[in-house]
Amino acid sequence: MVNVHINPVFDDDERRQHLFAGDVVVYTNVLEVAAFASFTRKLIIDLFAPDEPTTVHRSRTPAELADVLIDFKPKFIHHPESMEHVRRITRALGVEPEALYADVPKLRTAFPCGSLSTGIAYAFQPHRDTWYAAPPMQINWWLPVWPVAQNNVMEFYPRWFGNAIDNSSGDYDYYEANAWRGRIKDFSGAKDMRVHPAPRELLGEEEPRLCVVPPVGGVMLFSGDQLHATIPNTSAASRYSVDFRTVNVADVGSGRGAPAADVACAGTALRDFRRLSDGAGFDDELVARYDTAGAEGIKVFAPVVR
Ligand SMILES: [Fe+2]
Repeated sequence: MVNVHINPVFDDDERRQHLFAGDVVVYTNVLEVAAFASFTRKLIIDLFAPDEPTTVHRSRTPAELADVLIDFKPKFIHHPESMEHVRRITRALGVEPEALYADVPKLRTAFPCGSLSTGIAYAFQPHRDTWYAAPPMQINWWLPVWPVAQNNVMEFYPRWFGNAIDNSSGDYDYYEANAWRGRIKDFSGAKDMRVHPAPRELLGEEEPRLCVVPPVGGVMLFSGDQLHATIPNTSAASRYSVDFRTVNVADVGSGRGAPAADVACAGTALRDFRRLSDGAGFDDELVARYDTAGAEGIKVFAPVVR
């Protein structure tokens, strides 16, 4: 069973225990989360001015949207303020920056069906982040930038938490994927040719789904091992959200995390995580425990931000 905890009082250790068992945790009103959403909104309003961001898909073609986002998303990700917001949010919710390592926060855009849904605005099919080489102790933090609805957010497939499903994660190599990250424009046209691990069986209409719709100023936490997907956006509004991933150093040391019952990808994303107190990475010895033998390629993607 998957439980959704709303504004729980438990501490970070107990929270991780719930998340690693497949629960979802939602905080509905956090000052620091609202500040990150507001910061992001301002940047996006400037980016698309004079068009209104939630309806910009009506006045711009998918190619035009892709060009703007390909330039903007890396700037957002690496904006010095962005990581500062991650630090403030996690601290406000009970984690000390010395214990927590985070990946850079990502801005996600989901345009209404018929607009851009490849490459820079990829609509993720059902997947686990662990199939993309996330460590089993990864926690995802997801927050809306403008109000969202059940027809433009993401959904979980709770039946599959901890249960193996036949999937193509064995085709995915994180270090090979790092090489594609520098060529995102090539994948933002009609077809996205990158390897995207997915279940081999289709999830039918009758598949139980869980859709959580947090308010702006709220944040949802879930394990990177949850089977989840972008819901095709059938609303009239473009959806903007921010997510970031964290791992606690104690869990990386002890191996505590989600079940990762069916993960066959090569490599590990652990090198992308930086300690929130000082920006340090994990020791090679610790990373090696989560790496796969013989995986070669670009171990850390270093983007060029203009
Ligand atoms: Fe994901």
